[in-house]
Amino acid sequence: MAVEDIIASLHAATESADTPEENERAKLLAACTKLQQKLETPKDIVMKLLFSVPDEMSYAVLLLFDIIAMRLAIDMKIFDTPSKEVTLDELVERSGAERLLVKRIMRLLTSLNLFTPSPTSSTTYLPSPHTALYSPASPFSSALTFFTAQLPSLASLPTYFATRGYASPTSFHDGPWRFAFPGTPNPYDYFAQHPTYQKAGNVVFAFWCQGQGDEWFEFFPVEEKLQAVADGDTNTHAAAAKPGEEDEQILIVDIGGGMGHVLTAFAARFPTLRGKLIVQDLPGVIADIPANSLPASVTAMAHDFFTPQPVIGARAYYLRAILHAFPDEEAREILRNVKGAMDGGSLVLVNEVVVAEDARLEGRGRGHGRKSCILRGWM
Ligand SMILES: C[S@@+](CC[C@H](N)C(=O)[O-])C[C@H]1O[C@@H](n2cnc3c(N)ncnc32)[C@H](O)[C@@H]1O
Repeated sequence: MAVEDIIASLHAATESADTPEENERAKLLAACTKLQQKLETPKDIVMKLLFSVPDEMSYAVLLLFDIIAMRLAIDMKIFDTPSKEVTLDELVERSGAERLLVKRIMRLLTSLNLFTPSPTSSTTYLPSPHTALYSPASPFSSALTFFTAQLPSLASLPTYFATRGYASPTSFHDGPWRFAFPGTPNPYDYFAQHPTYQKAGNVVFAFWCQGQGDEWFEFFPVEEKLQAVADGDTNTHAAAAKPGEEDEQILIVDIGGGMGHVLTAFAARFPTLRGKLIVQDLPGVIADIPANSLPASVTAMAHDFFTPQPVIGARAYYLRAILHAFPDEEAREILRNVKGAMDGGSLVLVNEVVVAEDARLEGRGRGHGRKSCILRGWM
């Protein structure tokens, strides 16, 4: 195909008013990424990483300085009234920051198309269509706060590996996190000590998997495997209840399940399934679950998965995006604690980040997979 024709069809796609279906959108994005990777020279890549000036199309290609400027803007309340125009004086008053610093940050934010400079005044900023994405109520604001909190650990990796003879961490409690934040053995202890990060992380965990493909219960035979059954039922997965007590039977324990988002979706999808659902997480996470936010069938329970599982004989113990974060021995310890609670009919369901040997095949999981390629035990 001639280059002109390729360019013409790309322009046609860009200008089209049609909104693609979700799976078409993902395929289009993957095709664009492939084309870009094919065309970029090594120099292009380095220049983009170090000095890229995002244009309208690539405003979301956020580089480190941009990310930090955005985090500063979040902390300085610059995104707090995202639907109104705002003056420099108002921003200085709201943030309590130095005027020059606010002006410089606004210059960066306008270059990222996160605000639009007013055509009539150089110290007035209009909201852009993207400003609201970083307002305090938005999960993207939480994501920026949460991921920038982890940058010291990431930045310390070269020194960490150099001092450890370029060997993978073997303990979650004595890995790069502890190296970067002496005195805090792992990220979850750190988050527990910093409520802003804990809250941001809770929001991020609840939303990061949304739209990443079908939920597990859409392809797992839920009714066949997890239906609450009474003693004597022929179902082979009989972690069974006494007759008449099917509603008391524990169907699923979601271990490290955050604020209960997966079980909430499960309960909505299977409203007639009998039995109880339990979400477990660290005390700081469970305490953050808003009152009355869980459906009646879901109970929240503080539990550290490095201690024995207290719910005995559930039909399924579910772990999503837990094991990949830990070195092998700690992953085994988590599973041993589950094993101790299982009875003959219990299942363990693991829903995990897996990186293909040929990592180019990884597609949409790439961000997370990249991390897993290098590290287990960072977080
Ligand atoms: C990557 S998130 C996954 C959350 C959820 N399973 C999901 O897939 O959306 C990891 C979760 O494990 C929890 N967690 C970390 N250490 C834990 C521990 N020792 N015991 C219980 N939960 C823990 C975190 O608080 C967090 O909610």
